[in-house]
Amino acid sequence: MRFGIWALVHGSRGALQDPEEPYDASWERNLALVQEAERLGYDSTLVAQHTINPHHAPNDQLEAWTSSAALAAATSRIEIITAIKPYLYHPVVLAKMALQIEHISRGRFAINLVNAWNMPELEKAGIGFAEHDERYAYGREWISVVDPLMRGETVTFQGKYFNVNDYTLRPADPYRARPRIYVGGESEPARALVADHGDVWFINGQSLADVETLIKDVASRPRRGAPLKFGLSAFVIARETEAEAQAALLRLFDLAKLDAPIRAVQRANTDPYSVMAQTMSKTPRVGSNGGTAAGLVGSYDQVAERIRQFNAIGVELFMLQFQPFEAEMRRFAAEIMSRVRPL
Ligand SMILES: Cc1cc2nc3c(=O)[nH]c(=O)nc-3n(C[C@H](O)[C@H](O)[C@H](O)COP(=O)(O)O)c2cc1C
Repeated sequence: MRFGIWALVHGSRGALQDPEEPYDASWERNLALVQEAERLGYDSTLVAQHTINPHHAPNDQLEAWTSSAALAAATSRIEIITAIKPYLYHPVVLAKMALQIEHISRGRFAINLVNAWNMPELEKAGIGFAEHDERYAYGREWISVVDPLMRGETVTFQGKYFNVNDYTLRPADPYRARPRIYVGGESEPARALVADHGDVWFINGQSLADVETLIKDVASRPRRGAPLKFGLSAFVIARETEAEAQAALLRLFDLAKLDAPIRAVQRANTDPYSVMAQTMSKTPRVGSNGGTAAGLVGSYDQVAERIRQFNAIGVELFMLQFQPFEAEMRRFAAEIMSRVRPL
């Protein structure tokens, strides 16, 4: 069982206007956060990629790839997973960057292949926002070039979107075959993509039964290589008692009401065909990517038990959010990790 934290690339994960956590998406905060997470025993950090802030465009946004390279140099054990939207980088350039960060981190780097939902990010750049399944077709070709390049193979590829000739990247990866490949996305083409090209599938926070159905579907698909692993995104509210946890949840729900106008714009900017967005709209929640819908809200024992249940159905990595982040991340390390991890 592994635990990770979402880097705060766009500030608070739950409510954006929280007196206990002033908005801060700075490099300094993220550096200190990830270094502390490593010291506390977290295994992984996920650096989401957004060029403009997807919640509220005037707010600050940390750049994922340059920051990840710096995080790699400033840490020694934690896995660094950096998201990538294929339309933003040619596969040859991205594979080269990934291999460089693999070197800087000494074998701790991974990409998270995501196929975008925030339309203005690509539209306003003049790249255009292709229709949902077309984005996945593009992403599939893109990873078909990136994967062998990251393995140090010589690539010649002629497809609908890319035409790569006799291309080899050096130095190759001295630590393993290549950096790890995660995939985030819930739709049918996302599932097919991860079964064919991924090492780990990231699932958005939702009920145990729904996560089990998703895992069974994707795990049963034919694939080459090692069995697929599964990661779950979740927002944690753990307290001494269940009542305290529910009160903390209510506090965040109340604060989140202040963000209603911002969220309305975010919804209008979201691809209506994004299955992730459809799933998210079903359950009231705090946090991104499913957030509290995963049910990691309760007493320390309840949260620990829920984690064991997810682990039993196949979730290997828990990618966590908190608010206020630093204090709650420390609490989770002290109270929950010790309960679920054998000494
Ligand atoms: C764990 C996780 C992390 C994600 N990170 C990002 C990200 O950094 N940037 C982004 O634009 N989308 C991110 N996404 C969202 C995917 O782009 C999203 O699932 C997709 O747009 C919708 O695809 P779907 O219809 O297959 O669900 C993430 C999704 C998951 C599950």
